[in-house]
Amino acid sequence: MHDEAQQSPARQLEVVGERLQEELKRFSNIEALGRAVDLAEAENQLRDLKDVRTKFLGKKSELANLKKSIGRVAPEDRASFGQLVQQTEATITASIDEAEQSLKKRVESARTERDSIDVTIPGRRPRPGHLHPITLMRQRIDDIFVSLGYIVEDDREIETDFYNFDALNIPEGHPARDPQDTFYTTEGFALRSQTSTVQIHAMQRRGAPVRMIAPGRVFRRDTPDPTHNPMFFQVEGLCVDRGITMAHLKGTLTEFVHRLFGPDTKTRFRPSYFPFTEPSAEVDYSCFNCGGQGCRICKHSGWIELGGSGMVHPNVLRAANVDPEEFTGFAFGLGIDRTCARIYELDDIRLLFENDVRFLEQFR
Ligand code: DAH
Repeated sequence: MHDEAQQSPARQLEVVGERLQEELKRFSNIEALGRAVDLAEAENQLRDLKDVRTKFLGKKSELANLKKSIGRVAPEDRASFGQLVQQTEATITASIDEAEQSLKKRVESARTERDSIDVTIPGRRPRPGHLHPITLMRQRIDDIFVSLGYIVEDDREIETDFYNFDALNIPEGHPARDPQDTFYTTEGFALRSQTSTVQIHAMQRRGAPVRMIAPGRVFRRDTPDPTHNPMFFQVEGLCVDRGITMAHLKGTLTEFVHRLFGPDTKTRFRPSYFPFTEPSAEVDYSCFNCGGQGCRICKHSGWIELGGSGMVHPNVLRAANVDPEEFTGFAFGLGIDRTCARIYELDDIRLLFENDVRFLEQFR
């Protein structure tokens, strides 16, 4: 400051010009350094440059002061000094304009770069999903029964003792009621241990006659191993009408395995016991792989277990307000995941529940 006071006005103008050049250097720095143009940075600089313009050309600038001092310059120097001031102002304006132009260009190209697409980057391949093998199996089973005139019922997975046991003629003290075998909620509800519960709901809702299947999850307190999982899938079947006999049961399940595994498939009914059917039978079908000769898949017996079945117990009909004097019915329960595991030759049923895409992808 105090140096400048002693400098001639012409020298002062020169200094203003020099200082401006110094200031403008930082606006060309990014380019000089060859850095990638950053949009935010270029925009900031454009804003800074506005301040520089005010500082050098504004009302309070040194140049403005020097302009005002023209009147105080000795008359013989006045004209040339006036010219010098004008020249300096023109140079300063031109330099700032130039810097502004190149900054604007940089902002522009940074914007283009940000918005542009690199067409050489490999595209993202869409990975379409597919249904789970258990769902596929369930759909095949549904289709067969729907074509035989059955409706598909869906019902709750948490049940009262009435639906899970009492109405199914499972007496107090039956081992299935044991908390060791069935999951109970803290409020005393049971996670259904079989889809047979839906027989009762369906008959209560629809009365008789009724023909329905009910695919769904069931829960049992089993320790997981290659053939057990505490949650698995069953399909329940129920047919109640006037004059229904064991022959209808055998005919229906035989037709079912014919459609699922082929018309040469045979069935076998073995006497069994279930509280909710009388008489009861286990159903087997001849192995879809060896046709009954015996192979690895059927463990060399020629037969594969399909599930349980029987004639609906009169007590079950009564519990659902169906008159056993007028109506009779058959019922069956099949394991979906078990059948799935057989068909796909899985040696561990748990694979179906681990949701490992590498495994599931094989069964589109
Ligand atoms: N609920 C039985 C089970 O989970 C399977 C079953 C057997 C269902 C006989 C039935 C039936 O409807 O009649 O093992």
